[in-house]
Amino acid sequence: MIDIFTEIIRINGEDELYKLDKACEAIKEGQVVAIPTETVYGLGANAFSSDSAKKIYEVKGRPSDNPLIVHIAEKQDAKEIASYLPESFYKLADAFWPGPLTMIVKKSEKIPYTVTAGLDTVGIRMPDNECTRYLIRKSGCPVAAPSANISGTVSATDAKYVYDDFNGKIPYIIDSGSSKIGLESTVINLTLTPPVILRPGRITLEEIREYIPDAVYHDSLIEEEEEVINPASPGMKYKHYSPSCPVVLIKGGLSTAERYILDKIEDNEAVLYFSEQKKIAHITPDFCLGSYGSLSKCAELVFSHLRAADKAGYKKIYITGVPEKGLGLSIMNRLKKSAGENAVQLRDIVFVCTGNTCRSPMAEFILKSYNIPDMYVKSRGLDVCCSSGMAFNSQKALKDNDIPFSDFHSSQLTYGDVADADKVYTMTDSQRRIIISAFPEFKDKILTLKENSDIADPYMHSMDFYQVTFDEIRAAIEKRFKDEL
Ligand code: TXA
Ligand code: MG
Repeated sequence: MIDIFTEIIRINGEDELYKLDKACEAIKEGQVVAIPTETVYGLGANAFSSDSAKKIYEVKGRPSDNPLIVHIAEKQDAKEIASYLPESFYKLADAFWPGPLTMIVKKSEKIPYTVTAGLDTVGIRMPDNECTRYLIRKSGCPVAAPSANISGTVSATDAKYVYDDFNGKIPYIIDSGSSKIGLESTVINLTLTPPVILRPGRITLEEIREYIPDAVYHDSLIEEEEEVINPASPGMKYKHYSPSCPVVLIKGGLSTAERYILDKIEDNEAVLYFSEQKKIAHITPDFCLGSYGSLSKCAELVFSHLRAADKAGYKKIYITGVPEKGLGLSIMNRLKKSAGENAVQLRDIVFVCTGNTCRSPMAEFILKSYNIPDMYVKSRGLDVCCSSGMAFNSQKALKDNDIPFSDFHSSQLTYGDVADADKVYTMTDSQRRIIISAFPEFKDKILTLKENSDIADPYMHSMDFYQVTFDEIRAAIEKRFKDEL
């Protein structure tokens, strides 16, 4: 393709919308123009024209069997795009439009099969962006647009990233600042019963269910980002949402991931971190994703940070996974694709007894001695008033049995310990019940170390008693982790 001059049209307010008139002319002439939306930038062209749609596929390098979303300026414009609009369409449009929701319905004859990649259905979205809606109105046609990134790479949330990918390939990039939401729209197929969410986005399954109670989520979107990396290998590998360097996704809790990153990080590697991960904030301070407790900043910034880290030439990017519910489900949907095979599942095992001086430290060092990969082990107490060292007899039992241990100080169990844990093992059933009553949401991962019986407290007993306790703990650990030792 011969390079053309690409102009960025910056719009700072509604009084500047007239500057878009030349871009509207370009759309009318069948050209491709990059458009801003609240989710990500798009690569738009006349949705009524097959030739225009073809140009989008060409410029983006997108497989032609993957449909485009049709963007409209007003709700009523959906009528000429769809042959039929179900009741559910009106409910969701009233609730969420303009906004980050794409609804798949039966297409009308006016929409060419090039736009829908041969399907009889079409995805429609009314974006929450004044520039793009002005462009659609003034051009006199709906605008078909996929995300404005070269196929296989990270979606662009800022005009500068669109420029990086499409300079010389399209005449105009409309710049209205960075996308506020940062993840592509939620896509729901309303032609299926029950309606199926094909791609999770800012609008969550829970929010959709307030209007369509039987809606389900199934990650079955045709992946426009698919690109065969190594077709010769068994089981074709695909690249999605990928920067040019590897992305390592670490699943298994905030502080566990922080420890893992500190263990592994090398020079010239970047970390996209949460504000709570203070120990790794200094590595690449610009790449904060906001708080782990409220993920909207993470959604807004994650693509932009991935692109920036890639552009800066880092050779690896680490990022901590988030719980897969609500917006977290949408973020993880993208991150898993970005990381591909580089997803690491860490396990954080916490042993708990009363004072964290006798039984639980022994359990901690026994399990640590097996060096199970990607496993972090610690111990905590339910009633630690002031931190002290490990009981002398526990140390002796470890030594007598050749279990290495390091400097140890007892610590009180916290909410974060339980939240981050893969499993919490207590020495007695009453300890298990105490933790469950404090943190009921985690009840499924809180177990007694020994199934169906307690490990008695050796505190103040003889060394023989400690050796018996040691044996009991080691046998219980060997049983619990038998497949991994
Ligand atoms: O937020 C967004 O949705 C952005 C902005 C620009 O609006 N657009 C976007 O488009 O993410 P794209 O093409 O990158 O992703 C749309 C996805 C594609 O994977 C496509 O397969 C799917 O929606 N899709 C579109 N029409 C469909 C249809 N009729 N049936 C099934 N899937 C469809
Ligand atoms: Mg895309």
